[in-house]
This record gives sequence, structure tokens and C-alpha cells, in this order.
Amino acid sequence: MAEEAGDSFAVLARRRIVLGVTGGIAAYKAVELCRRLVDAGCHVIPVLSEDATRFVGEVTFSALASERVRTSLWEDSDPIPHTRLGQTADLVLVAPATARLIARYAHGLADDLLSATLLATRAGVVLAPAMHTEMWEHPAVQDNLEMLRRRGVRVVEPGVGHLAGGDVGTGRLADPDAVLAAVAEALSGVGGDMHGLRVLVSAGGTREPIDPVRYIGNRSSGKQGHALADEAERRGARVTLVTTTERPVRPGVEVVAVETAADMETALLERSSEADVVVMAAAVADFRPKSVADTKLSKSDGVPDLVLEPTADILAALARHRRPGQTVVGFAAETRDVAARAARKLADKGIDLIVANDVSAPGVGFEHDTNAVVIIGADGSEHEVGLTDKQMVANAVLDAVVARRARRSQ
Ligand code: CTP
Repeated sequence: MAEEAGDSFAVLARRRIVLGVTGGIAAYKAVELCRRLVDAGCHVIPVLSEDATRFVGEVTFSALASERVRTSLWEDSDPIPHTRLGQTADLVLVAPATARLIARYAHGLADDLLSATLLATRAGVVLAPAMHTEMWEHPAVQDNLEMLRRRGVRVVEPGVGHLAGGDVGTGRLADPDAVLAAVAEALSGVGGDMHGLRVLVSAGGTREPIDPVRYIGNRSSGKQGHALADEAERRGARVTLVTTTERPVRPGVEVVAVETAADMETALLERSSEADVVVMAAAVADFRPKSVADTKLSKSDGVPDLVLEPTADILAALARHRRPGQTVVGFAAETRDVAARAARKLADKGIDLIVANDVSAPGVGFEHDTNAVVIIGADGSEHEVGLTDKQMVANAVLDAVVARRARRSQ
């Protein structure tokens, strides 16, 4: 199917899609959508409302989808299936979406697995409503949809045609092609606030070799840099990630693997002239062994005299070579006087924003899944982000980037 529709559906490959199906006669058409998504290379997890199971059998979806059907918040050993589904999805598609589901979602009711998943996700959401014309045209339904559109939810308008019970009118589930096109558009970030921007991110700790088996490294896990790359991609940017770590990234993020500070410097400077935004989240070694032994140092040769030399300050070099209009963001890992030291680094390196974290605080910085930061702007602005997951921190940093670029273009 991906070939059939040309390149526009290529973006679907390897995406995790939660396919929500609610209880309307059009539920049977979701079977075809499920098959088309799987054919396009998606990993599809069907979530059926209780009413949907009255219209179409769970077995049908389980046979076609990438995972078995989920129907309940309580069915398996996982006590929080909605958060897991919501957090790992690249997109949640609800087709058909009934007036009831739309109302519950708009008003934040999370009383079944699908509605809870919708509230627990930060992924894009596409709704394909299907209902009788009178219901579709009712101001309650239209107001609810308007509220959801304002929050960034995409709505694939229903078509005109035969409805259940022999009626004819607006309310028929949109064609599968239109639904898939909306899913592809949402996944490619069209409409995202970073759409069209080229973003270069660095991540991980550099490793400076001592001999063929040993190196000087640091505790950076790369999680924050990878979250930044993923979130920028989700918001529509074209992202290149220069990283020392092998963590998975969203499809669409270009990955350049490096090891040392020198490799990282070359990789970043080669690409920075193309970038609109550069985010230096990597923990770069400040010193490296002056000479690297060709063969493994042996204990029998005694304790080696390691002579170190400074590495280049990559961030300062990036700022010096920045192209007009480029936004340069740095990080500052501190253990004392966090904001003051970070503000000094921002000024010394000549960058736009610095993300300061107190790496000695519990749950913050290296190796953790959480972080707490202060985002300081060259204009003196300070925005504190309390302890939260690195995805949230990434979005706060990207919000600051978007806001700064918007102010500068005014
Ligand atoms: N950085 C860099 N090149 C280096 C060292 C650091 O590009 N050789 C970048 C980091 O990626 C980060 C910022 O500079 O974005 C600040 O890093 P940090 O380690 O906090 O500060 P340093 O500049 O190394 O200063 P110090 O170690 O004295 O705190």
C-alpha cells in the first residue's frame, strides 16, 4: 500500500500506532484501516471500546494487527496499560470516533482504556468521526471538536453517503485514504511548531582513548539529548543527532555515531552551516590523553604517566561559526551556584540559551530518566522546570527555542 500511495505514506514505516475503535457501525471499516497501516509498515496496537466489540470481533483485529487487542484498563498484569500505550505510541488514531468518545476526550474523562490512553499520550492524535448527520451537526459535537482542534488534534471530516438504518447524509467515516493521509501528515510533523526547521543535536558522553581498550569517559547516558532529538522530530523538524550512545531514536532522526570530542567536533561543524537550531546536550570531555598507546598498556610496565591536553570547546566554536539567524543552545552541568555559573557560560560562549542542571541533586542529570533544569536566555530570562521526565524537559527547551525565534523574527 505504501508504494500505491507513493512517498506520502513512507513516513508510516516502523511507527507505533494505537488504533482506537469505538462503537459505531463503521467499526467494521477500522479492520481495513488496520490492515492498511500494517501493510504500510506500522506497528499497530488496537484498543477497542466495549461498545466496539459489539460491532466487530476482537479476533479479527488480533489476527491483522501487530499486537493483540486491548479492551480494558484491568485485563492484564500491567497495572497502567494506558500510560504505557500512551507513552510509547507515535500516534493515536481513533476511527471511527463516536460523539461519546469525542465528548469524553474533550472533557478529560478517562473512564476506559482508550480515553485514558488519549489523556496519557503526548503523541499526535487523529480522530475520524462517524455518526448520524443530526449528531454530527449538533453544536455539542462541533464545540467539542473545536476544543480538540485547538489542542492540536487532527480531525478527518466524515463524508456524505449511506448511514446506518438506510439514512443518507454527512457522518460516514472518511475514506481510508483520507484517514491514512491525515496520519502520515501528523507523523511528518506538518503543522508542528518546528516544521521545516533543521535541528542539530549532540548527545552522550565522549570517550577519549588511553589505549585500544581503555578510555576516559563520563556518566552521561545520552537520554536528554536523544529526547531532544525525538521531540524536535515529533514537532516537525528535520533532525540530525550526533551521539556517542546507541539508544533507539524516532524513525526520521538521522543518527551520526561518534566517540571522541574531536570526532564530535568534526561531525557538528560539518553540519552546523545547514542547521537553524543547534543543541549541544553532549557531555564533552575537557581533557584527553596527549598520546594514545598503540597497544594495550600492561600492568607489568608499571603505572602509566597519563599526560592530558585540553579538547576544543565545541559549543564556543559552533557559536563563533553560527550562520545568521541560527539559535545555539548549550547545557551546563553544575554542582554549585548553578544559575550564576550557567549564565557566565552562556555569555562566555556567546550562545542564545543555556539549560542548567544541578547534577548533584537527587534524580537530576546523568544516568537518570528525570531532570530538573533552569533555562536561561541571553536576554536574561529564566524558566525553571521542576523534576520531571527528560521528554518534558526536552519540550520545555524546544518551547524556549521556538519562543526565542518567534521574538527575533518580529
Ligand atoms: N562543551 C563543549 N565542548 C567542550 C566542553 C563542553 O561543547 N569541550 C559544551 C557542553 O556540551 C555544554 C556546554 O559546553 O553544552 C557546557 O559544558 P560544561 O561541561 O557544563 O562546561 P564547560 O564549558 O566544560 O566548563 P566547566 O567544565 O569548567 O564547568
